[in-house]
Amino acid sequence: MIPRANLHNPLSGSYELATGATISGPADLVDAVRLALPFLDLRPGDTGAIELRLDPALGPEGYRLVTGSRGVEIAAGGRAGAFYAGQTLHQSLPDASYRFTTREEWIVPGARIEDSPRFSWRGLHLDVARHFFPKREILRLLDLMAVHKLNRLHLHLADDQGWRVESRAYPLLHEVSSHRPRTASNYHREPETYDDLPHGGYYTLDDLAEIGAYARARAVTVVPEIDVPGHASAILAAYPSLGATRERHDVLHRWGISSAILSPTPATVEFLTAIFDELIGALGETPYVHIGGDEVVLDHWSASPEITAYGESLGLDSAVDLQAWFLRRLADALAERGSRAVVWDEAFVSGRLRQDTVVMPWRGMGVGRRAAAAGHDVVATPVFPLYFDYAESASPDEPMAIGDTITVADVAAFDPAPSGWTAEERSHVLGAQGQLWTERIPDARTLDYRLWPRACALAEVAWSGGSGDDFDERLRAHLGLLDALGVEYRPLEGPRPWQRRRPHRPGRVNVADVMSRLDAMTFDAESTRPSM
Ligand code: ACM
Repeated sequence: MIPRANLHNPLSGSYELATGATISGPADLVDAVRLALPFLDLRPGDTGAIELRLDPALGPEGYRLVTGSRGVEIAAGGRAGAFYAGQTLHQSLPDASYRFTTREEWIVPGARIEDSPRFSWRGLHLDVARHFFPKREILRLLDLMAVHKLNRLHLHLADDQGWRVESRAYPLLHEVSSHRPRTASNYHREPETYDDLPHGGYYTLDDLAEIGAYARARAVTVVPEIDVPGHASAILAAYPSLGATRERHDVLHRWGISSAILSPTPATVEFLTAIFDELIGALGETPYVHIGGDEVVLDHWSASPEITAYGESLGLDSAVDLQAWFLRRLADALAERGSRAVVWDEAFVSGRLRQDTVVMPWRGMGVGRRAAAAGHDVVATPVFPLYFDYAESASPDEPMAIGDTITVADVAAFDPAPSGWTAEERSHVLGAQGQLWTERIPDARTLDYRLWPRACALAEVAWSGGSGDDFDERLRAHLGLLDALGVEYRPLEGPRPWQRRRPHRPGRVNVADVMSRLDAMTFDAESTRPSM
């Protein structure tokens, strides 16, 4: 089973769970278990083969599952706990139960399982800006996350290369900013070449509402990200007046950091708050909204007399302070809407964050520790080992990636709240999240390959607080479940012939070099995340 349960004692006896068996208990818990076990076609009844009860003492995501010859008993701390009990019960059945083929009866082995998560934030990030992934892929990803008890989907909805959500207030965003005529196809540090294929797409607000509801039913919270004030080329292709230079930009068709930046003035704040209202209105309850703050090139602010004067009118004497003020202003607007802001770590370094702003330290756990020491909640997102767009090996067989090497074992060995930190610092670690930047992930098949099985190791670390000694053995067994679900994961031995999609060529970056540069860095646009 992945992730491993806190306590898992096999018991003698087993139970034959028949398709169409009855399930009893509080209606919302019954719904959650039925959703986790759709193939069983469970029928609500007064007594049941599965008996459920609420026990809030187990915590909202905790559960106790006892199976034996008399049936299945579940105590759950809340709806999420019941859903996870259902997922655990599902994983105790043969892999065939993950296929849409029917069977009359399933043998449930006797066991007593007591379980609850070590971390409350067990996340995956997906960059849908560099490459768009249609709604059906998001729903499928949510199903796969649910199997692994992952519970935060961070959708990176806006970047230089595309804007990915309908806006009724600013319709040129989806009409103009959602597509580009071509995309860079060269390797890192090679002369630029392009594919000359249009790329685009966006979620309608109805799509987003559906994604939010589908996620919620599976105990997943969607965290939308609008990355500002940098990474703004796509916005400025549609609404140049929001930019520091007021010049029209193109939706970028190459990678790397751009100097396109929004102006920090009230018109921009008004624009972004209107977008927040649309996102929150569509998604429903949205406890977190990510506002980016990474890789900001402030040159156009410093060069603008109008922006400099605006900063001075606020009593701010540098562009860095103005950026901090701007992000705080957005976080205040989110707080008024009941949402906490989440930022990449550069925004923490710039200072002045609201205390309740969550920090994602992508440049390493050093800056994460500083944010935790300053009292911010932190979600561990360091490039090493949680950037799943890096290749799993430096082998020439590996398909094109931004760099290497991040292995399953690297992820399994990761500690989101390192023992060297103080108890106070550790208490601020909400959890961990894997990142999928998609410059080199053009489609769902490549996404499967990059994500799995590294996300299995992430799930184990984030749920169980560390991978168990028998993780490798359980992972090998778990691959049969992924096969049944049709996941095109990377085999542990390396890519299948058709997964070696493009010849490996020199010029990739090595993750150890990147991490040592990021660790030491005060932000410098030239030396951060390597452009490709
Ligand atoms: C990032 O990788 N720029 C957060």
